[in-house]
Amino acid sequence: MPAHPEVTGFFDEPTNTVSYVVGDPATKAGAIVDSVLDYDSASGHTATQSADALIGHVKKQRLTLDWILETHVHADHLSAAPYIQEKLGGMLAIGENIRVVQETFGKIFNAGTDFERDGSQFDRLFKDGDTFMLGSIPGYVMHTPGHTPACLTYVIGNAAFIGDTLFMPDFGTARADFPGGDARQLYRSIRRVLSLPPDTRLFLCHDYKAPGRDHFIWETTVAAERQANVHVRDGISEDEFVAMRTARDKTLGAPKLIIPSIQVNMNAGHFPEPDADGNVYLKVPVNRI
Ligand SMILES: [Fe+2]
Repeated sequence: MPAHPEVTGFFDEPTNTVSYVVGDPATKAGAIVDSVLDYDSASGHTATQSADALIGHVKKQRLTLDWILETHVHADHLSAAPYIQEKLGGMLAIGENIRVVQETFGKIFNAGTDFERDGSQFDRLFKDGDTFMLGSIPGYVMHTPGHTPACLTYVIGNAAFIGDTLFMPDFGTARADFPGGDARQLYRSIRRVLSLPPDTRLFLCHDYKAPGRDHFIWETTVAAERQANVHVRDGISEDEFVAMRTARDKTLGAPKLIIPSIQVNMNAGHFPEPDADGNVYLKVPVNRI
């Protein structure tokens, strides 16, 4: 029987993102998955309410934060990893293909030679099959690309943090049209996730409700997804999925926070160094994304 970590989800309504605090009840080792730094794009202001809620929970549960895990370079919210690490410690980890994302978007943002494209801003770069421990609970990593080239699924005991691969069965799957995304790869990654034991708890990075559903949900199971996912339940072929996903992606606009998010998240959640005047600026690449 795989171990049963305690998982608490924190939903950020402005970005539809779910962050998680994961705890090992036996050792009180903790992890945070996909944190959010609040960002108001109209004013350029950041805030730490969402991150402070995660930090408060970690403290209340008396967890020692061992890991700050990112499933991928998010395009719809900014990561609060540096803020959380400063307050609680922990190793910041992401997939090794972050290098591909840094290479692609380093060019798009003309990030300059100071911006390292080797993933060295992170403490640990995971590759497919790598293992780690959350206290006494064994975890491992599945490389699940398709939405982005660096996407990871973290399997910790009987819980899997699947990032942007699947969403709730009634909503479907993540888009695959960002630079480096690939619908065919996404299908194959999803089938790998769905080959986990049927009772595996799946924790999603987002929920958007769905027609006929008036509340947010972010937890499901492999069995439920295989039975009912509107895009990839059992029986839907790779070609059918790719045709559906490609057509649907053509109808989607850019996420509201894509420009600040990628710029900051590809740099492990760090904003650019201050300008000569001591202030921090973000760039907007015109007609590039
Ligand atoms: Fe994403």
